[in-house]
Amino acid sequence: MFPVFSYVTFFFLLLSFSCFPARIIPGSLTELTVDRHNDTWRFFERFLDTGKGSHVSGMSELKKYFQRFGYLPVPNTNFTDVFDSRFETAVMMYQAKLSLPVSGKLDSKTINTIVSPRCGVSDTTPLEDVHETRHFAYFYGKPRWARVPPMTLTYSFSPEDMIESVNSSEMKSVFERAFSRWASVIPVNFTETEDFGSADIKIGFYSGDHGDGEPFDGVLGVLAHAFSPQNGRFHFDRAETWTVDFETEKSRVAVDLESVATHEIGHILGLAHSSVKEAVMYPSLSPRTKKVDLKRDDVDGVQALYGRNPNFKFSSLMESDISSNRAVGLQIRPSRWATTLVVVVAFKFFLWTR
Ligand SMILES: *[C@@H]1O[C@H](CO)[C@@H](O)[C@H](O)[C@H]1NC(C)=O
Ligand SMILES: *[C@@H]1O[C@H](CO)[C@@H](O)[C@H](O)[C@H]1NC(C)=O
Ligand SMILES: *[C@@H]1O[C@H](CO)[C@@H](O)[C@H](O)[C@H]1NC(C)=O
Ligand SMILES: *[C@@H]1O[C@H](CO)[C@@H](O)[C@H](O)[C@H]1NC(C)=O
Ligand SMILES: [Zn+2]
Ligand SMILES: [Zn+2]
Repeated sequence: MFPVFSYVTFFFLLLSFSCFPARIIPGSLTELTVDRHNDTWRFFERFLDTGKGSHVSGMSELKKYFQRFGYLPVPNTNFTDVFDSRFETAVMMYQAKLSLPVSGKLDSKTINTIVSPRCGVSDTTPLEDVHETRHFAYFYGKPRWARVPPMTLTYSFSPEDMIESVNSSEMKSVFERAFSRWASVIPVNFTETEDFGSADIKIGFYSGDHGDGEPFDGVLGVLAHAFSPQNGRFHFDRAETWTVDFETEKSRVAVDLESVATHEIGHILGLAHSSVKEAVMYPSLSPRTKKVDLKRDDVDGVQALYGRNPNFKFSSLMESDISSNRAVGLQIRPSRWATTLVVVVAFKFFLWTR
């Protein structure tokens, strides 16, 4: 047992120095230090600066978080409060996936990312890791909507489970814009239908346990989740302060509806979480932040599933994105092999623990 851990740990340590230099951006430490009184996950701040060997009461709760998002297997017994080698490996996998410096410790960047609100969809599943690279990813089996082209998917709002704070005309235009961003890059059309029962994509706002085994958790924490193709369920946590305009909504916990909608449509179409921080498909989103424009990583991922919309031109979409990617890409390219190794080692680790 022990040699395997050391082997895995060794690889991660090795790679942490060689793989991710492009991600260490000076001055980005402050990005998530918002005031978080009582929010879901704030409790985890107590684990700041802990590492292997630490024993802090409540650590088992953090292990549950890691398990929930795909970094730890379900244990045979309850999780302990000890920061053991298995947890260290999970922390490293998390750091690699979220493009944080891979230290294996709960440093401030890592804790800030952990407590930051995010999507409820798991980042990795044991088998999915094989397909994963350091950019976009798919769900296991690479599911997609299989329709004869030209493809049109219908969406509908739940007749019962909507919110009052955003009126129906605003709601409709938010989703129209979010769907049209994806439709502009792939040959798929989205149209709204009044018939919720028969719609391909079913949108609603729910509180707590709402019957799909993925209960929502109140203010911040998990914001929303959506299912992979061809399921179409598209759920938002009703407890959030969903906002269309930060000028009129001053709450510190306000969350941009359109940004989260755009992200979840990516899941509906078959994209899993990306490691590219700027991408719409990155798992976390700070409160009071708008992130609605598809990045090249999102576009490449979805076009690999559905092909390219004939009217789509890269040049018009994202000049700045492409140039910034080029700068980062140069540094990342030599480590592609190393990245594959991380994935394979992680995969073996999971197989071995099953
Ligand atoms: C924090 O949560 C506790 C219990 O959930 C509640 O009693 C308290 O009023 C909350 N405090 C704030 C500042 O929201
Ligand atoms: C796990 O913890 C729960 C609640 O603390 C306890 O009821 C249960 O007996 C524990 N199970 C094991 C296998 O230790
Ligand atoms: C989408 O709708 C537009 C306008 O109605 C139409 O021209 C186009 O062919 C449609 N594309 C697909 C893939 O259905
Ligand atoms: C919906 O809300 C927006 C912004 O708050 C407002 O401008 C618009 O008039 C409202 N529409 C309806 C139908 O109430
Ligand atoms: Zn997500
Ligand atoms: Zn749900």
